[in-house]
Amino acid sequence: MAQLIDGKRISKEIKDELKEKTARLKERGISGCLAVIQVGEDPASSVYVRNKKRACEYIGIESLSYELPAETTQAELLQLIETLNSDKKVTGILVQLPVPDQIDENKIIKAISPSKDVDGFHPENVGALVSGLPGFVSCTPAGVIELLKRTGVSITGKNCVVIGRSNIVGKPMAILMLRENATVTIAHSKTKNLKEICKNADILIVAVGKPKMVDASYVKEGAVVIDVGIHRDADNNLCGDVDFDSVFETAQAVTPVPGGVGPMTIAMLMHNCVEALER
Ligand code: GUN
Repeated sequence: MAQLIDGKRISKEIKDELKEKTARLKERGISGCLAVIQVGEDPASSVYVRNKKRACEYIGIESLSYELPAETTQAELLQLIETLNSDKKVTGILVQLPVPDQIDENKIIKAISPSKDVDGFHPENVGALVSGLPGFVSCTPAGVIELLKRTGVSITGKNCVVIGRSNIVGKPMAILMLRENATVTIAHSKTKNLKEICKNADILIVAVGKPKMVDASYVKEGAVVIDVGIHRDADNNLCGDVDFDSVFETAQAVTPVPGGVGPMTIAMLMHNCVEALER
């Protein structure tokens, strides 16, 4: 039977540490704020945005909310970002993704000042990550590393398989595991012999975007399984990319959905927001 990796508890631990830190910074007259932009009313995005603003409130940093209509043009959004880039009071800027089709996501990501890019999506921050230089790191992969470390999972020398190659999760995840001295394989939808490759993993990180795709037949006895997915199943319950019940018997440790990686993403966003203040 697997150990349950409690992301909710660990994220609270991190937010409490950050809360103390922001209080100390405030005593020194250092404060700032996170500008959160949402374009349109995607229900999932609205939940994420609400949780991000709540987390800001919890750790004691101000947040500014920009809820723009779905018809917002790219020029209008770029103009807002430009204004926020120049506003000294604003220390972090976040545009919730996805944005509507008329807006080019990459243009938006590039427009945010790298020093305010608390999502860690700007090519300058991605480049810094790859080169091992300081910069903001994408929150979900950073959260996975923090989960592993705070659960006492050693990474050095381990075989790690990441399923998924997105810019937000898979690619930065692989780089971070490499930085922690794992031997890393990135698998994706075109990978041949996926099961065989996954069966070789000591640490299996699943960010594939398919509900309950990974069952026990993908998992080596005693492996650590991290589930980055989040979906609604046929009964409208939340589930991940991993078939939790199936994997629970085989794995040494596994993250639940909800309550695993999700809360860690927000904790690491708060970490980045505090880092932006400290700069
Ligand atoms: N959409 C899904 N995940 C994220 C994230 O981490 N940041 C932003 N801005 N949008 C997202």
